[in-house]
This record gives sequence, C-alpha cells and structure tokens, in this order.
Amino acid sequence: MADQYVQPHEESQSSQTPAIRWEEPPEGPVLVLLDQTRLPAEEVELVCTDAPALVQAIRTLAVRGAPLLGIAGAYGVALAAVRGFDVEEAADALASARPTAVNLAYGVGRARAAYQAALAGGGGQEQAATAALAAARALHKQDAEASARMAGHGLALLDELLPGGNHRILTHCNTGALVSGGEGTAFAVALAAHRAGKLRRLWVDETRPLLQGARLTAYEAARNGMPYTLLTDNAAGSLFAAGEVDAVLIGADRIAADGSVANKVGSYPLAVLARYHHVPFIVVAPLTTVDPDTPDGASIEVEQRAGHEVTEVTVPQAPMAGTEAGGGIAVAPLGTQAYNPAFDVTPPGLVTAIVTEQGAVSPVTAEALADLCARSRQV
Ligand code: MRU
Repeated sequence: MADQYVQPHEESQSSQTPAIRWEEPPEGPVLVLLDQTRLPAEEVELVCTDAPALVQAIRTLAVRGAPLLGIAGAYGVALAAVRGFDVEEAADALASARPTAVNLAYGVGRARAAYQAALAGGGGQEQAATAALAAARALHKQDAEASARMAGHGLALLDELLPGGNHRILTHCNTGALVSGGEGTAFAVALAAHRAGKLRRLWVDETRPLLQGARLTAYEAARNGMPYTLLTDNAAGSLFAAGEVDAVLIGADRIAADGSVANKVGSYPLAVLARYHHVPFIVVAPLTTVDPDTPDGASIEVEQRAGHEVTEVTVPQAPMAGTEAGGGIAVAPLGTQAYNPAFDVTPPGLVTAIVTEQGAVSPVTAEALADLCARSRQV
C-alpha cells in the first residue's frame, strides 16, 4: 500500500528531499520515496508499506534510475521481511518490475541473500529481517561512497581530456541525487566540475518521452546553481555542429561484459554524434551496473513501454503516464501505434571511457572491464 505526503516546493533551497529513506514510525516500518513523476511541480512523498506498492512505484517511474532502483529493491525485500510478508514472492516481483537496469536485480538479490543466510544460520524470522535491512542500508551507503569517488575520477578524466576547464557538457536523462545514495553518476561529475569552477555550461537533453532531463536534471541543476540550458533531444546535432559541446556525460542502466552500454533511449545517437564530431563520450556508472553475466549488447533486454507515453503528453502536476493508464493530452490520432523502447545500447567502440568508483576504463574493452571488476573484488 502507498500513501502520500505533499511538501511545499522551495526554489531557493539547494539541498533536496532525499529520493528514498527508511522510516520506523509507531505504526511500523515504511519506505518513503520522493515521487519523481510529480517533479518539478511539487515534492510529494510516497509511503510504501509493502512490496506491491513499491513494484507499482518502480513501474510508473515514481522511483527510477539504475543505482536507486538497486537501493529500492533491497529496501523492498527488507520491508517484506520486517512486515512478515512472503519474502521470496516479494523479491521475485521486485526483481522483475523493470528488466534493463541490472542494479534492481542486484539490490534485491543482495538483501535476499542476507535474509536467507541469516535463516540458514539458525536465526529466526526477526533476525533474518534485520539482516536484510542491514544489507539494504549497506548498499545505500556504498552507493553514496561510490558516487563521491566517481565524481573525483570523472573530474580527473575531464581535466586530462580537456585541459583548461571551462567545460560545456551535454547530458541525457537524469543521473543526479534523484537516482543515487549520493549525488549521482554523470551528474555528480558535472557538479564536481561546477564546484571546481570548470563548468561553463550543462546542456540538458529534455529526454523524450518522459522528460527526465527537463523535469529532473533541470530541477537538480537549478537547485545546485549550475549554468544549464535545456534543449530538445533533436537539437543536439546542431549543437555539436556549432562546436558547442566539449564532452558528453551519461549514466548507464547495464554495462555488458564487452563494454556495451544500455542507457536511456537517445544515448546511442549522442554517441554517434560525439564520434563524428571528435567529442569524448563518457559513461559514469558504479560497478553494480556492470553485469559480467550479460556477454554483449545484443543480450541486454531493453524495456518496451506503453505507447501512450509517446502518443500523449502528460503534465507533471498530475501523475505521469504509467504502465496501466494514460490520462495525458493526446498528441497523435487515436489508435496510433508507438515504438517506445526505454533504453538503447551503445557499442563499446563508441565509448571513450567508462568511469567507475574504482577508476576509469579507456579504451573500453572486455579485458579492461574484467580487470577493473577483478581488482575491485580484491579491495
Ligand atoms: O527510465 P529511467 O528514468 O529509470 O532511466 C534512467 C536512465 O536511463 C539513467 O540514465 C540511468 O539509470 C543511469 S542513472 C545513474
């Protein structure tokens, strides 16, 4: 079950409401999510008391973005355990709520493994629930630390590739504090550049059809006082042609073993543009996004979403179009079919570097990525 709190939106405030938090009011533990479908119009929090409510929040993108999906999935398992629901059933439903971001299944798996290990070790239900919650909290903290490290490594890479600062960075979708235990992935690098006085402009792709760039990245950039400009996804080509882009920074939902990168639809065309215009195309993602069990880009399952997200426009004051209902303003004739993949896949050859919390891989090869993952296991 999900309930709602509405908070006043304060423009001048630089810190934002956390994207996710665990709370323990007298009525019992809850998972509180900042409802991202309502931003930037208002900060509404969704209070989940069970896994089905969280599954619904994941499907409708109230909670979204790869690292945050992992954290949410782990807390979802803990929620089921602490409230005495069927943990295996909850874990299966959560892990399959969205298919592309590997972090979701990873986070669910990590909390489920902690729960099962505690039970197998002779602990009772309560002890196992405590273990699942501890695993979720550990992942949340680990992601915050990874975010800070990625920001440092990403900024160092920018300094190396583009000495002199004054960067004009193009980004796609939303990769900031709204998707992370910390300040995000690609956005955290842009923010670090801004704080170091090295960001001339953040170009923000609006990111059709659900406008994660316009609604969420612009919101975060404004809150952080960054110089940013919003553009339609289609305007990126002319921006490159005018020599206005120094680097592209994006996140990732899944990185296959060969270095192929699945990210928000529209990322691949940016990679092609970047290559043509000799601009670095940099992917920033924690190692929890790297999936050694997916051999290549063709093996990544790309989520296909409902056509009404394309055939209708939904304003954020009302709940955004979700998987079950439309309710937006029609922009195409009734009955129009839509092609609506949520992600696309960029081949490793078009990626200049992948920046993780353990450092950057460049050039991007299966061997270099495997080495990085192996080194991180030793840390
Ligand atoms: O469909 P979404 O909004 O969950 O897609 C999110 C993205 O594609 C992000 O770019 C990706 O998860 C990386 S976030 C660090």
